[in-house]
Amino acid sequence: MVQVFIPEDFLNTIESSIKRRMSCRSFSNTKITSEAQYQLLNFFKINKYSPFSKLGSRFELIELEKFSELIRGKLGTYGFIQGAHTFLIGIMTQMDFDHEHLGYTFENLILYSTYLGLGSCWLGGTFHRASFALIIHLLEDETIPAIAPIGIPAQDPSLRSKIIRWAAQGAKRKSFSELFFKDSWKKPLQPDFSEIFFKPLEMVRLAPSASNRQPWRILYSSETENFHFFVESSKKRTHKLARWPDFPRIDLGIAVCHFDLTVQSLRLKGSWRFLNELPNYENLNYLISWVPE
Ligand SMILES: Cc1cc2nc3c(=O)[nH]c(=O)nc-3n(C[C@H](O)[C@H](O)[C@H](O)COP(=O)(O)O)c2cc1C
Repeated sequence: MVQVFIPEDFLNTIESSIKRRMSCRSFSNTKITSEAQYQLLNFFKINKYSPFSKLGSRFELIELEKFSELIRGKLGTYGFIQGAHTFLIGIMTQMDFDHEHLGYTFENLILYSTYLGLGSCWLGGTFHRASFALIIHLLEDETIPAIAPIGIPAQDPSLRSKIIRWAAQGAKRKSFSELFFKDSWKKPLQPDFSEIFFKPLEMVRLAPSASNRQPWRILYSSETENFHFFVESSKKRTHKLARWPDFPRIDLGIAVCHFDLTVQSLRLKGSWRFLNELPNYENLNYLISWVPE
């Protein structure tokens, strides 16, 4: 496993960053400081690995003011996102576990920007991919599954952004026992199952997901204390949309990021493994397990 450097204070306060993070779609129209830009750039230079890949992710931070009004008008975020100057662009190279890797590393950055007091919003659908691709000179085997505006949240979010969050039911989450199971898919896990492991699961429960679908399910094995991560397969994915991101797999990467940072903050020792013997169940596909030491 590749060792990553995570600033101690960010890790120690991860629960607060996870709880504070919510999609921000209205920004204050002021630029983020060069100090914040430096911290973000530095963070993602170092933290570009995940349990899914030892190859680094590629991200770019762009300032809209560097582009002409014509280009800015074509980026397609207008109307959904207001007052943002800076965008983080997630660039995915085709490989095994590419979506999960992107999900993990991008969310790590989103949480770090929350830690720095900045607002952000994952955007997977509401932007014009081809225009962003031109701006950053995308290579042939690369795609842009997601971008995020990053900036200072507006004091008074626009009515439009409140409506979007309400329509996506952004503040709602499925209950603990709808998402997590004990030993079999027939037995829902109760929040009091373990004092130590409640928190990492609760942090998964609060994770963001595309259209707030929350497609992750975790099977906890009480004998070994292993946590097996599964994801609902994407029903909408068709052959025609082969280059459209597989959002549930990105969401799974986000969930693994929340679990991983939380167990690290609690100093719980364990590792991520791909176990062969775990069967898929109905529409749930097995991805990865956390195994304690
Ligand atoms: C992979 C991914 C893609 C998303 N795409 C969009 C998008 O295109 N437009 C948008 O307004 N929100 C988008 N969101 C934000 C979700 O709607 C939001 O995270 C979810 O409703 C939960 O709300 P919260 O982030 O405020 O907790 C996306 C989130 C994720 C994780």
